[in-house]
Amino acid sequence: MNYALLPLRIFSDERGKLGVLESYKDMPFAIKRMYYIFDTSPSFDRGGHAHRELEQIVLCLCGSCEFVLDNGSLRENVKLNSPEVGLYIGKNMWREMKNFSYDCRLVVLASDYYDDREYIRDYAEFIEFIKEIKCKE
Ligand code: TYD
Repeated sequence: MNYALLPLRIFSDERGKLGVLESYKDMPFAIKRMYYIFDTSPSFDRGGHAHRELEQIVLCLCGSCEFVLDNGSLRENVKLNSPEVGLYIGKNMWREMKNFSYDCRLVVLASDYYDDREYIRDYAEFIEFIKEIKCKE
């Protein structure tokens, strides 16, 4: 499975906590884009796609949600509910996001600019893509 839960570098003192992520030190790619998700609703899911090349790290700064991560053979669920852990998602991973709390605040760090052509939004197409990759290996 091309994902990992990364314990983040947190500086903690009586004033509170400060978390840091530096490219290539705390994470395996340089950040070209960040986006964030807020005002979420438990009634709606998000995601439902894979990326051919993009790598991302998801931080859950507040509230909680669940990621379903699928490499074409295995499917695992990961709950995010702490700003002290980052979810790294590598390329070629199908992801769905569900069970958002109303107060969920996600920050996503991405290895490249937004490119709609880089998405695979159809699960059957994703499975075909994974088969092609495995044939080439
Ligand atoms: P969408 O891919 O549906 O979000 P999610 O992965 O959470 O399901 O994106 C919602 C909209 O935002 C869609 O119209 C594309 C746009 N968008 C950008 O323009 N730039 C970005 O970096 C992202 C992530 C989305």
